[in-house]
This record gives sequence, C-alpha cells and structure tokens, in this order.
Amino acid sequence: MNSALQSIPTTSNTHAPEMGELTSYDTEPSLTQAATTPLGVSLEWQDGLQTTLPLRWLRDHCACHACRHPQTRERLYLPLEPITEPPSVVLLEGHLHLHWQDGHVSAFHSGWLYQRRPEVIRHSAVPNVQPWGDHFAPERIRHADFLTLQGEKTWLTAMLRDGLALITDGPLLEEEVSRLAERIGPLRATNFGARFDVRSKPNPNNAAYTAVGLPLHIDLPNWRQPPDIQLLYCLQNEASGGESLFADGARVVEALRQQDPAALAILSETPIDFRFQDETHDISTRAPVITLDAKGNLVEMRLNNWIRDALHLPVEQMDAWYSAYALLWTLFHSEAHQLEFTLLPGQMVAFDNRRVLHGRREFDPNSGARHLQGTYLDRDMLASRLRVLARHV
Ligand code: OGA
Ligand code: ZN
Ligand code: ZN
Repeated sequence: MNSALQSIPTTSNTHAPEMGELTSYDTEPSLTQAATTPLGVSLEWQDGLQTTLPLRWLRDHCACHACRHPQTRERLYLPLEPITEPPSVVLLEGHLHLHWQDGHVSAFHSGWLYQRRPEVIRHSAVPNVQPWGDHFAPERIRHADFLTLQGEKTWLTAMLRDGLALITDGPLLEEEVSRLAERIGPLRATNFGARFDVRSKPNPNNAAYTAVGLPLHIDLPNWRQPPDIQLLYCLQNEASGGESLFADGARVVEALRQQDPAALAILSETPIDFRFQDETHDISTRAPVITLDAKGNLVEMRLNNWIRDALHLPVEQMDAWYSAYALLWTLFHSEAHQLEFTLLPGQMVAFDNRRVLHGRREFDPNSGARHLQGTYLDRDMLASRLRVLARHV
C-alpha cells in the first residue's frame, strides 16, 4: 500500500485538472497533503481542513474523457466494481492525481474536491425557504432592473426564499408576462392554456373569470403536479375592489402546528379529492390538503375550496376532518397572516403556487376594467436560472 505523504508547493495552476463542471471551483484553497489510508485517500488543504474520500467514490468521480463525456459533462463511468487496490497518490501543483492499479489515471482539482468534501453542507446559489415573519414586505424589482443580470438574480433569490416577489414599472403590453417568464424557462401549459387572461368573461369556466371575490387558494390542486410558480401581470385595474390577497403556507402550517397539532396531522395524513370539469376536461386527483416532508416541513399546500370534490372518507372521520379544515381556513384568512395590496397596471406579482396561497377581493366590473395576464413556470427553472446567473454575477 502506498502511504507516502506528499507535500507539494502550490504554484501557478498551469495544468489545473478540468472537472466537467461549470460552477467555478478555482478560488478554493490548494491541497497540501494526500495519502492513502485503509479508508481511502486522506487529504488536507492549505487552510487546514481535512477529509478522507473512499477509493470507490474517487474512482466514480474521475473526470477524464473516458469517465465523463467531454461535451455533455455527463457521467460515463459505471461504479459497479469495488476498488480493492489503492492507487498511487501524487499532488501536482496542489491538485490530486491518482494512478490506479489497472493503469487508469484520474486528476482532481483541489477546489472541486474542497467544494464536495462530505463534511460540508453543499453551498448553493439557491436559498432555503424562509417563512414570512410578522412584517413581511415582498421584494420589489423595477422592470428595467429585472432585465439586468443582477436584478433578475435578486428577484429569483427572493422568489425562492419568500415564495413571492413583485416586478414594478413595467410596460402595458399584451403578452409581457410571457416575455418575462421566457427569460427564465418554458411556460408551463395547463387546460387554461400556456398563457391565460384573468377578467370577467361572459361564459366563465372558472371562478377567476368572474368578478366574485376569491378566497385564498392554490391553482389547479386537481392536477397530480400543480404548477409551481404563478405570474400575474396587471394590464388594467380600474374597477373598484379586486385587491390581491396572499398568505404564506409555510408560516400558517407552523401556526397550525402550534395551535392544534392533531388538526395538522388530520389535514396532512388524509387524502381528499379535487376535481375540475368543463365540456372538454375532467381533471381529478386525490391528495392531502397539506403535504409535509419527513422533518415536518411543508412540501405543498392544496387548498382550494371550489375545486374540492365530494368528500369521500369513512363517515366517522368526516367531522374531525371538517373541523381541522375550518381551523386551517380561519388561520389563513386571519389578518395576521394576510398580505393585501392593489396590483397596479404595469406590475407583476409572482408566487410559489404550491406554498403561498392567493386570492382577490370582489370587484365591480361595471366600475371599470380589470385585466390580468397570467402564466406558470416550474420552480426547477427558477433554481436553474439562478445557478446560471450565479456563474456570472
Ligand atoms: C387566478 C386568480 C387572482 C386575481 O386567476 O387564479 O386567482 O387577482 N386570480 O384575479
Ligand atoms: Zn477516468
Ligand atoms: Zn388563482
């Protein structure tokens, strides 16, 4: 077994290994020591941090052109065989080079290994969800600033962290919502189209296309995969009423957990039916009103009282379910949890449809026009766009 400890001076990275990775990794410290141990290869960086990486992991992450496709950067190597024979270990200009017993050679950039050492929680450009606090005020980015990389990055960060953000001072142009959305990703189409118009219509097939008030809800809970992100761009809002309402599911679920954990258990463990029907569609699914992950964090809300289908539960469970539902409803609609504002022409509100509930106050269609244009995006596309922007700004 080769257990030679190597101390190599770090000079310029003239032949730094390429790792098939677009996120930058060349600002991290260099390696100062590398040696084989019974557990794998032990490493130490300039800043004193240490780790030990198993041989099989190292072999699996070889980034040579035989192991990782040089154009797609995707893995070609298939790690089915255990690696029993340790490689010989060399540090060259602070980077790790392994000469495996079968003749294969792997080169690892010290900064790439530093970023991926198993002890760290991986740094990501994508922020964690942050439930709204008492005085939550949404991020507002001017339309002109959103068109810069830095402005778009700020807006995306707020969207993924807060689940809601605004764009202001935009042009009064039809389809502007689609143009803004398409900077981020392809529009997520539904039975209402890829882009939809929200206004009072003669033969509505949806409550949003009337003038009635809409209590807090998510859109399309009747789909197995409801749309993630909703964008609503205001073109006209002269009618009296029609104020926009929002409440953060991540915050309200915590309030419910404090107030009545049994109600939270009922709503998160009892699947119910949701259904939309018109002349051409009948779209239905069964899922709980609240979905939590193994740690109890909110995965998604499915609250929409008019898309809720007939309640199909064992009779003895119905009263408890209705009581839990009523409590959740009251919490969402309490003043402490609601954000209310009037969307002005040229403003766009975007929100995580599976986390932040939205609604509107009733409006009077005879008092003036109200016209919003909307579309949806996948959350994956927001996170992707943010990672790409983080390469540059
Ligand atoms: C919708 C909706 C809100 C509004 O179209 O799904 O909730 O302000 N619209 O009209
Ligand atoms: Zn290789
Ligand atoms: Zn809606």
